[in-house]
Amino acid sequence: MTVTITAARDVLKANDRGGYTVPTSRLYPFQWNWDSAFVALGWATFDEGRAWRELERLIEGQWEDGMLPHIIFHAPSDDYFPGPDVWGTHHHPATSGITQPPVLATSIRLLLENAKDTAEAEAHAAALYPRALALHRWWTEARDRQHSGLVAILHPWESGMDNSPAWDAAMVRVPATPTTPIRRRDISHVQADMRPSQADYERYITLVDLYRSLAWAPDRMWDATPFKVADLAINAILHRAETDLMALANRFGTPADHSAIALRLESQRTAIARLWSEEANLYQSLDLITGERIPVSTSGGLLPLFARIPTDDQAARMAAEIERWGGKVRYLVPSLSPFDPRFEPKRYWRGPVWAIVNRMINEGLSAYDHGALAARIREDTQTLMRQSGFAEYYDPTTGEGLGGGSFSWTAAMALSWAVP
Ligand code: DGY
Repeated sequence: MTVTITAARDVLKANDRGGYTVPTSRLYPFQWNWDSAFVALGWATFDEGRAWRELERLIEGQWEDGMLPHIIFHAPSDDYFPGPDVWGTHHHPATSGITQPPVLATSIRLLLENAKDTAEAEAHAAALYPRALALHRWWTEARDRQHSGLVAILHPWESGMDNSPAWDAAMVRVPATPTTPIRRRDISHVQADMRPSQADYERYITLVDLYRSLAWAPDRMWDATPFKVADLAINAILHRAETDLMALANRFGTPADHSAIALRLESQRTAIARLWSEEANLYQSLDLITGERIPVSTSGGLLPLFARIPTDDQAARMAAEIERWGGKVRYLVPSLSPFDPRFEPKRYWRGPVWAIVNRMINEGLSAYDHGALAARIREDTQTLMRQSGFAEYYDPTTGEGLGGGSFSWTAAMALSWAVP
């Protein structure tokens, strides 16, 4: 398969629906939150105006309290379940009622700092800055209600790593009793064994039904939910985005913004540092209902590298752990430790390699001077793209491309980072 810059650009152009990019046609026919923040980085390599437009269309879906929904339903489609009727959020444009990893501030900063058209970029970034600030405030107010320095997800879909084995134990407490009939469309587009299971979906929709019945009010959701997890990956991504927001605040913010961000940075850093696992040599999530650490080693547990949380010694131990995984699979970085008995190389977040995660890990490893391993991760990603095209994710044992094809964020990574 030839993977060229032209082919990667063509994926973005084909998935463009008028200022926003669908992750892939059919399987995901709307605008997704963290997808778009990454996809903007791809657009920026050949059309800066279009890159800013991606983020501007995304924040059309932002709620008044700052929440940025995980899906913005700009135009109707029968290809996806659950659609706007199931969410019932009464927002215009229609949106889901939950969020996703907050990559927005990082994306704004990267677009701004790499811009060729600097005056234009300043104007776009200045307009987007208050929206990113509101989003970060929302995370703290709505999702760190005990002021612990860690934010919680209330739905596995919020993690973006939907069916990660890290959520298995917590999901057992979610009843599989949806009131909404489940009409899965995903498995008519993609093989069922590459997707979450039916039992997962019953619980996903039970949570959506519960939150809809609470009118999506953050305090009521917090009190009623059976699923409340301090997802390590989201906390690391938020912390990294907070440092990027600080850089933006230095240009566009007030002294009060600056102090609020500085306070959050401090408390996040201390809290995330406590999630280090001496046994696993990476970081792990915390179940906020039981108060217990979730002893599952996922690629998300490596993302504190991207947020510069580990000490040099911890980073070296994480690098050694990644090398150990690399002895067992052909392509780095699998989304679950291949030594975990639940490892499934083809099933979504239970084993496959994802280009965006590789990018974040690569960037972190480079910053900690683990250049050789960072290079291997980058080369593996390039090889996967070259052999199997711009797939949604890849089998780390065979390199097979899985899930949706012509996938926007994979093509965007080819353009912005792993250019073949
Ligand atoms: C899906 O539908 O699989 C998405 O990941 C949920 O946002």
